[in-house]
Amino acid sequence: MSAKFLLVKNKIEKFKKIIKVDGDKSISIRWLLIASQAIGVSRAKNLLKSEDVLNTIKCLKELGVKISFSNNNCDLQGRGINGFKYKKNITLNAGNSGTAGRLILALLLKTPYKIKIIGDKSLSRRDFSRVIEPLEKIGAKFYPLGRKKLPISIIGSNYLRPITYYENKASAQCKTCVMLASLNTPGEMKIFAKRSRNHTELMFNDLNIPIKVKSRKNIDIIKTSSPDRLNGFNLNIPGDISSAAFFIALTLLSKDSKLVLKNINLNPTRSGVLKILNKMGANIKVKKIKSINGENCGDIIVKSKDKLKAINCPPSLNSSAIDEFLIIFLVAAKSKGVSYFRNLSELDKKESPRLKLGSKILNMIGIKTKLTSSSLKIYGNPNISLDKNYEIKNYLKDHRVMAMCTVAALTLGGKWKIYDPEAINTSFPSFTKILKNKFGVKFS
Ligand code: S3P
Repeated sequence: MSAKFLLVKNKIEKFKKIIKVDGDKSISIRWLLIASQAIGVSRAKNLLKSEDVLNTIKCLKELGVKISFSNNNCDLQGRGINGFKYKKNITLNAGNSGTAGRLILALLLKTPYKIKIIGDKSLSRRDFSRVIEPLEKIGAKFYPLGRKKLPISIIGSNYLRPITYYENKASAQCKTCVMLASLNTPGEMKIFAKRSRNHTELMFNDLNIPIKVKSRKNIDIIKTSSPDRLNGFNLNIPGDISSAAFFIALTLLSKDSKLVLKNINLNPTRSGVLKILNKMGANIKVKKIKSINGENCGDIIVKSKDKLKAINCPPSLNSSAIDEFLIIFLVAAKSKGVSYFRNLSELDKKESPRLKLGSKILNMIGIKTKLTSSSLKIYGNPNISLDKNYEIKNYLKDHRVMAMCTVAALTLGGKWKIYDPEAINTSFPSFTKILKNKFGVKFS
């Protein structure tokens, strides 16, 4: 039985460690969805076994896809493009996963029966109109009409048409949705997308799915169409930089410590957190970079840093660090000067309203902030040292809030009760295990 809360009472001792983190979530979910459209067996090594990924697997199994695990391998028996076993009254539960819930819709464009998509409390408050609108233009129908959130039902069509789609939120989920829709649609999809993580583009390219990408300033013009045939494929999934970020911050904010994180995905559309922290005075290095299935991977080396400085964060880095802002805010709280983060309204549309809640957590530990609907100013205090009791409860079970607060407790002090600790299983199931087994952290 899992504990009701995580109790953290002591700062972490100084350390010198080498660790691995769990596999990349975005790549794991994309591999499952795209492999389900291939013919024959696909195998992923180091697939992330988190709740978001397990929910994706459950959804695909509902649609007749066979998936099994052995050792560190996951095997998926693909059914080909539009090969799902459709039947009446299917309900797919995406749980907490915006990526699973939004992307799977794009593979259901030909379902002859209504399929209902549901999710947990957090996912049910998130916007789905951002994917419903393009998919309706392509030819799908959604019920109830005009509904923008889960639960919703989709019904497909045999008369799908390609669209020209303008993606202006820098959302990789929206972009990927239209790219995946192209698998079932005749003709060529044309997407003008504000730059965001490009794992789908790299995977399409690696699999010879027709794709052309032209880059213009911060816009990518993407053209995709359906392949004549898509064969099963194998993938070796690197560590998730979004999970690594919590251990990078743990090291930066600790005293006299050093950490090496092995085989992390270093795709430039994902590694904004390294650029941002280095601009704040960190000295994070990467080495042994190699390309695996088109993705850059390598080791990250980070050392503690006594004197971190505030940042006026360039919005051009927002999308490449979008899931890391909570932990970046914590680093800003211990940096000298006033940090400024702007054009971040998308952050309030995540698993929890992270701009608002990030600010609330910093206020709770005595850090002054100025919050608007799209920006946050953080008045850092390099001498911050906590000795009070803190309680983290009712944060919509946001996995990244939980990890951020654990790092705060281990580096800044105080006695922290962090409720819903199982939330971390959404993205990083080994988080507390690594802290206990590798760093000797005791949670009472
Ligand atoms: C993801 C894209 C991002 C990110 C999410 C994963 C993906 O969301 O926040 O955790 O795998 O495509 P948006 O596309 O909504 O920005």
